[in-house]
Amino acid sequence: MFFSRRATQAEYFDLPDRSHKELVEGYDSLAKVNRMLVFAEPFQRYLPRYFGHDQCANLSFLDVGAGDGLLGRVLSQWAREKHGWNWEFTNLDICAAALKLNPDGNNVVGSALDIPFPDQSFDIVVASQVTHHFSDDDVVRHLSEAWRVARRGIYFSDLHRGPLLYLLIRLLFIVRRFPRHFEADGILSVKRGFRLGELREFARRAGIPNANIQLYFGTRVLIYARK
Ligand SMILES: C[S@@+](CC[C@H](N)C(=O)[O-])C[C@H]1O[C@@H](n2cnc3c(N)ncnc32)[C@H](O)[C@@H]1O
Repeated sequence: MFFSRRATQAEYFDLPDRSHKELVEGYDSLAKVNRMLVFAEPFQRYLPRYFGHDQCANLSFLDVGAGDGLLGRVLSQWAREKHGWNWEFTNLDICAAALKLNPDGNNVVGSALDIPFPDQSFDIVVASQVTHHFSDDDVVRHLSEAWRVARRGIYFSDLHRGPLLYLLIRLLFIVRRFPRHFEADGILSVKRGFRLGELREFARRAGIPNANIQLYFGTRVLIYARK
């Protein structure tokens, strides 16, 4: 079967000793791909529907594995301009150098596996393209930590380990070239992605009741739950 198991090889993105130049190139390339593949769309279109538009006027978010904080910048601007909503983001990442690329952000260095905040500190905890960086056991920890610090719920978007996203990324890298280490990570990250059944099991092990696990346009997986 196609990619029947998750790849376990580490991504370049996670190497602590990569050069600053590579780090900047990596986040710059990710931002370009994110915009091309409309990575913020599930959070704009579906998150407000799920939590209720009338509940969205003032929300605090923790973005786990925020990197350079692009998601928070895009979403807070969109919420303000489109709806007049005040969405405030705290960006958590293990990589201090990545957070420094976002000097105006509300940034905290720390691990998604041991979130340095008390229980129920944020309305909603989001994660975008982070979950696939973890081993299976750590995915369970990542989910349970997010659930712990959320008051209202969690909303995660990640990669579906299937042929459609694999071909899409391959095609993208034919028409548009990126640094070699970034392209290698792009292919590998699909192989590290998830099938829906795996995520249902991880959410169950994390103690998240009634978690919704959904395929999004055949390429992404959404994991969301309300308290
Ligand atoms: C592919 S990037 C995604 C960045 C951003 N969320 C986005 O959608 O563009 C994965 C991010 O997860 C971060 N990360 C990896 N392991 C982590 C951990 N244990 N705790 C917090 N962040 C982590 C990396 O530093 C990196 O910024």
